[in-house]
Formats: sequence, structure tokens, C-alpha cells
Amino acid sequence: MKRVKIIFLVSLVSLLTLGFLLLYIRNIINVHAVKTNSTISLASLAEKNDLKIGSEFDPNYAFHQSLNFDNTYTAILLHEFNLIVPGNNFKMKLIHPEQSRYDFTVTDMIVDFALEHHMDIHGHTLIWGNPKSLPKWLQDNSWKIPGRPDRDVLIDILKNHIKTIVGRYKGKVKAWDVVNEAFCDPANHAHKWSVPCIVIDGKKGGMDASVWRTVIGPEYIEIALQAAHEADPDAYLYINDNNYESINSPKSDKIYSFVKDLIERKVPINGVGQQMHIPLDAVDFSQYDRVISLIQQNFRKFNDLGLDMIITELDVRIKKSLFGPSDTQLKNQAKVFASMLKICMDSKCPSFTVWGFTDKYSWIPGHKKGYDYATPFDDKLRPKPAYYSLQEILKIKE
Ligand code: XIL
Repeated sequence: MKRVKIIFLVSLVSLLTLGFLLLYIRNIINVHAVKTNSTISLASLAEKNDLKIGSEFDPNYAFHQSLNFDNTYTAILLHEFNLIVPGNNFKMKLIHPEQSRYDFTVTDMIVDFALEHHMDIHGHTLIWGNPKSLPKWLQDNSWKIPGRPDRDVLIDILKNHIKTIVGRYKGKVKAWDVVNEAFCDPANHAHKWSVPCIVIDGKKGGMDASVWRTVIGPEYIEIALQAAHEADPDAYLYINDNNYESINSPKSDKIYSFVKDLIERKVPINGVGQQMHIPLDAVDFSQYDRVISLIQQNFRKFNDLGLDMIITELDVRIKKSLFGPSDTQLKNQAKVFASMLKICMDSKCPSFTVWGFTDKYSWIPGHKKGYDYATPFDDKLRPKPAYYSLQEILKIKE
């Protein structure tokens, strides 16, 4: 009986070992296949142009969950990109879960991982009013201190939060989205799933009714920039927003006058981020040159203030279909990716980031109902026309 048990155990161990070995070999082959498929990486071309080409990254998809380890994903990330933007882990809810406790476990891992592979990190994001990104303690009012004005208490919280994080990663995280989505355009605002919009100047774009804006006032933005600058004077500081791609749109005007005023008052700010989550069906291809020219002019206008305008979260989503995206849709998607990269490269725009490089892990299906296929690699991690169009633009500029 004892012998039967031993034989059974030995066989089980051998089978398991064989299984892991096969898995390991398959992963090695995958990595190899990806690397040799595409010898000219986007990153190598971008480096010749002094450009950082980034992807949103969330370790849930990849590297630290050993059983779920997606070797091909990680290999493409490391091969094609030279910048990592953690999609969620710097958000207050995850990094500062209790008022007296920060959790740096995952951000430390990401930062080490990026540095080990000689990649830059863009920190997203220090302050964001969206309740989905805020910890419970900040939303249930437990931070209030009887007898002290709420505004003073919240300013202290904001400053300490920023100084703790920026200070910890000083010299490692080179750029920060200090404030995210502070503005909104009531006519076309993307906050249906978050906080309401406050209209400040009649029809012009206003600001979010976030806890920061409501309790502190619009000055929370400059207080945040100042705190980040004090914690790391060499870090590049951005404010990041969506839906203001075109020149002279109400929201673009609002952000422009806001940052112009910051610069005149010498508040430290290096630039603004354009998220660019674009629905393909909203692009007017019958007037494409005009659409592109309006975006180009917007970049120039902000650049003329001495500011960078960077692309921080580009994806181009396509209506979901049983048959997948059509060739025309993929071609048009590629055109949009290429145009945005070209605009960036023709401007003072040191980084160009896609919000995830593969449909396999894109946030789109989960957040934008009825849409999918928004990134340059498909859900099997195969490059799409959008990938090759990015490569072409980088080559022209080589
Ligand atoms: C998204 C993440 O990608 C999702 O995983 C998360 O569930 C919600 O937030 N604008 C931003 C990003 O600035 O932080 C958002 O990221 C996408 C929209």
C-alpha cells in the first residue's frame, strides 16, 4: 500500500514538473517569436527622435501574478515601449487606502521593474476628483476635524499626499499627472460616470464638482503643483484632461486661460496632457484635414506658452461587432493613431502614450459600452494596422 502511494506521489511530481517545463518552454518560444517578428521596435525608432513612447500598464495583466504571467505581453511591452504609465496603482484609492497608511507594494514593484528595464515612468495620477479613484476615508468625511476649517484640513491632506508620493519616487518617476480631469465642458463632458460639472463662465468649460474643487476652490490645482515641485524640483509636472483636442473649443479655451494665468504667476507647471480617448465613429473623415489642423493648432497654441502638450492616454475605439472590426475601420483607426503621433512629433510633445497597447487588456469594453478594439495590438497580441502606421511615422521622422 505504502509503495503504491510512493509511486503515485512520484508520478504526480513528475507530471507537474513536466507541465511547468512545457509551460516555461512555450513562454520562451513566445518571447522569441515576438522579438524576431518585429526587429524595429517603436521604442528604438522613438529614441532616435528623442521621444518617449509609452503604454498604460497594470500589473494585474502581467508580471507579478506568477500563475497568470503573460510572458508575450511583457515581452512586447519591454520591446516596443520606453515609457510605462501605471494605469491605476498611483490613484489615491490604491496607494493611500487609509488616512494614516500608504501602500507602496505595487508601485514600488512597477518602479523597480521599469528602472531595471531602462524605461521611464510617468506617474498617473496624484490628484483626481473622480470618486472611483478616491479612498473611502476621503469620501465619508472622516477626515474632517471639528474646530478646524475643512479647507485648511483638506489642503494639508492634499499636500502631504503629494509630498509623500513624489518624495518617495524622487528622481525615479520623472513626470507626473499632478491633477487629472479638473476641467469639464458641460456641452460635451465625459463625466457621466463620475462627478457633475460646475459651469463657471456661462457656456464656457467649467470645473469638476470634486471634493478638492468644492472644499478648497480652484486653487487646489496650484497648491498641488507647488507641493509636487517642492518634493521633486526636477520632475516634469502636468495637468491632464480629456475632450479638448481642438483649438478654440470651450474647454480648450478654459484650460488655456487657466494655465496662462498659472505661468504668469510663476506656478511650476511643465505642460498639459491630452488624454485622447477617441471614438472612431466620431471622427469626421469627410473633413479630416480640417479636424487634424484644429488639433495641430491647439498644440501650437499651448506650446507658444512655453508648455509641453503631451499625449497621455490615446486609444481609438471601434463599435463592437460579431465579426470584429472591418478592414476599413482598422485602416481608419491606423490613420488616427498615425496623425496623432505626427502632430506630437511636430510639436513640443516629449511623450506619446497609448492607454494599453493590446485589446486583450484594454479598459474600453468594460467602460465604454458597445466599443472595443481600441489599441494597436489585437486580443491575441498581434500587431494591427495601427501598429504599423505608428512605425511608419517614426521612420519618416528617423
Ligand atoms: C481607467 C483605467 O484604465 C481602468 O482600469 C479603471 O477601472 C478606470 O480608470 N481617464 C483616466 C484614466 O485618466 O485614469 C482612466 O483609467 C481612463 C480615463
